[in-house]
Amino acid sequence: LTIRASSYADELVKTAKTVASPGRGILAMDESNATCGKRLASIGLENTEANRQAYRTLLVTAPGLGQYISGAILFEETLYQSTTDGKKMVDVLVKQNIVPGIKVDKGLVPLAGSNDESWCQGLDGLASRTAAYYQQGARFAKWYAWITIFESISLFLTARCHNFHVLNFEMPILISSTYASSFRRTVVSIPNGPSALAVKEAAWGLARYAAIAQDNGLVPIVEPEILLDGEHGIDRTFEVALKVWAEVFFYLAENNVLFEGILLKPSMVTPGAECKEKATPEQVADYTLKLLHRRIPPAVPGIMFLSGGQSEVEATLNLNAMNQAPNPWHVSFSYARALQNTCLKTWGGRPENVKAAQDTLLVRAKANSLAQLGKYTG
Ligand code: 13P
Repeated sequence: LTIRASSYADELVKTAKTVASPGRGILAMDESNATCGKRLASIGLENTEANRQAYRTLLVTAPGLGQYISGAILFEETLYQSTTDGKKMVDVLVKQNIVPGIKVDKGLVPLAGSNDESWCQGLDGLASRTAAYYQQGARFAKWYAWITIFESISLFLTARCHNFHVLNFEMPILISSTYASSFRRTVVSIPNGPSALAVKEAAWGLARYAAIAQDNGLVPIVEPEILLDGEHGIDRTFEVALKVWAEVFFYLAENNVLFEGILLKPSMVTPGAECKEKATPEQVADYTLKLLHRRIPPAVPGIMFLSGGQSEVEATLNLNAMNQAPNPWHVSFSYARALQNTCLKTWGGRPENVKAAQDTLLVRAKANSLAQLGKYTG
């Protein structure tokens, strides 16, 4: 049995190692135009190309950013864009010793036949797109699949005779007629964890994408995000994550993906955002490392966590806790919100605030760099 390896194999391994270099992590600045619009709206700016360009110029030109940041994930617009003073964003990054990356998925759409879940589009034409992105200077890629848990969902029901009418949820639900006597409004919880179908689809899509990206010289970041939303406890997240990563690696292997030439972008194992019991950084680290040890081969060079709605400091503390002892992989960050939130607010769209905003970005980047080394002290 002979499997054709990507002709880029050596380069992929080198790129992955460069991104997973000690004391550095990824700046995720690949918000789609729609998401970027929401971020800009939060500071009262219109979602114009000029505003997106101004903000992204601020990010990539932050002085000395490359000391803490090894890679930057870009949206397609930014890969082809210049800074406000006319330099190609990609060239500015390379000069800062930062590897340019590119988001290549085409977004989420409803997954028919599932628990109201989604799947990620973008495999059609991916080979030619990734080849073009490589020509443009990208050396790694990102594809984002998401898995929802929502362990329990509150539904407002109106009971009328023997029927229930679901007022705020479209999924048909079978409910016993115990309640069915008179009009009433009540709240019930139903299990709605990820369906086997959604997990399989996410894992298969990630694996096909990874093989195609490697064939065209881009190190694929494999990112099945398990969303924080829900009231479930940390054990439930752990159980779902075990299942998801087992499938992801099954299909990565089946698609002959070179493990030494990929990077992972998992969610940390935490309780759901609405869970009453919070977890300490030590607990998050324990659960997350247990997951990684059970599921991730040491051939994988880097695990670059997403922040997923954690606060800036929380994301840093959790990463720091995971690096208190040596790990088989580089355990680091690929944060968007946890690097950019304060920076964006500080900027507020005003040219006179650019330097102060860049300083806040550097503060977060440095804090996470220290956390990658297990040396963050707050
Ligand atoms: P957050 O760190 O804000 O969750 O974003 C991660 C991400 O996937 C963006 O590329």
